[in-house]
Amino acid sequence: MAEQARAVADAWSPPDAPESWWLTAATFAAIAEEDALLDLAAAIPPDRLPPLLLAAAVGFLAPGTDLARHYPQPGGPQPPRDPAFGAEVAAFARDHHLDLAELCAAHRYQMNEVGRSADVLPALALIAADDDRPLAVVDLGTGAGLGLHLDRYHYTYRATDGSSSSVGDPTAPVRLECTVRSGAPPVPARIPVIADRVGVDVEPLDLTDPQVLAWLAACVPPEAGAVTRFAAASALARAMPARTVQGNLLDVLPDVIASVPADALVCLVDTYVHVFLPPAELQRFDSLLTGLGRDLEWVSVDPLVPLGPEARATVQGLEVPDAWVRENRDGGVAGVIGRVSVRDGERRGTVLGRAHPGAAWLEWQ
Ligand SMILES: C[S@@+](CC[C@H](N)C(=O)[O-])C[C@H]1O[C@@H](n2cnc3c(N)ncnc32)[C@H](O)[C@@H]1O
Repeated sequence: MAEQARAVADAWSPPDAPESWWLTAATFAAIAEEDALLDLAAAIPPDRLPPLLLAAAVGFLAPGTDLARHYPQPGGPQPPRDPAFGAEVAAFARDHHLDLAELCAAHRYQMNEVGRSADVLPALALIAADDDRPLAVVDLGTGAGLGLHLDRYHYTYRATDGSSSSVGDPTAPVRLECTVRSGAPPVPARIPVIADRVGVDVEPLDLTDPQVLAWLAACVPPEAGAVTRFAAASALARAMPARTVQGNLLDVLPDVIASVPADALVCLVDTYVHVFLPPAELQRFDSLLTGLGRDLEWVSVDPLVPLGPEARATVQGLEVPDAWVRENRDGGVAGVIGRVSVRDGERRGTVLGRAHPGAAWLEWQ
């Protein structure tokens, strides 16, 4: 369990992460080291992502307690690093043992990271540059649907030399920023027009339910930027509900695609969804793609599979540089950005880059 917690901390907030990630790193370090937290995590079935679920439960209970002063508020700064946090959160876990255990039993860990739209946008720009048809975004595993509004956000890509490219409505309430560590993502002059949009999820999340919203907010890593963009994106998604279909993506995909206007180019988007599909389902998905009798695109942002140190393949079956496999084995889990195009039943795939799981950086091939 301690290892799992350290792996999450390494992926989200490695030693070179910005200072604002200190609370995320400190939370998972405490889960890895403090008995009161380790005991709680050990009681959670492994497939329910114990360290992440427990960190969310702590964040959910923090408001109104002394611990709350460490947590950032939407639009606010990151409270400063406090070396006493580990001992404090351990004492909190002892005092709230039963409530935390109940929360972990009643909830699933549900990550909705709107920042991943910054990984998807350059891929959509490439698709729009290659094909004149209007784009229809089908967001698979959409959760709360934040990825469905990606044309309504403002994006800034900062290169390490200090230069930057921006796109989107400058007055947009959702502002996504990411550092480009290498390469040059094709930031378009204008966001491609999204002619139709539909989300698919086995368990769509209703943001109009205050309890659902509060739990999702608790699942966001306690980093000022992440908390602010989640609050803005969830407010926008509440104000502009998009069509969402409930069901297993493998079962509903043919009907969903048939419901999209025939003149649109279907762009399936999956961010951190296919990584959780068992190999047989990944295979089934792949066969579906070429058997639907329709041109389409599949943009994926997913860690290598099988999730963990043995990972070496992308969910799209594309080859990645050896260095990515090595870094993944050493704990540096990143999302591989890939594009699969299907034209006249023929499938062609390209690895486009990789990205931080919380969308802090990306590298373009
Ligand atoms: C880790 S979350 C990612 C949510 C969002 N795409 C993001 O990147 O923030 C995975 C989502 O996929 C959904 N999901 C998992 N398996 C699915 C399936 N077979 N069919 C439809 N949705 C699925 C889950 O319910 C969850 O909302």
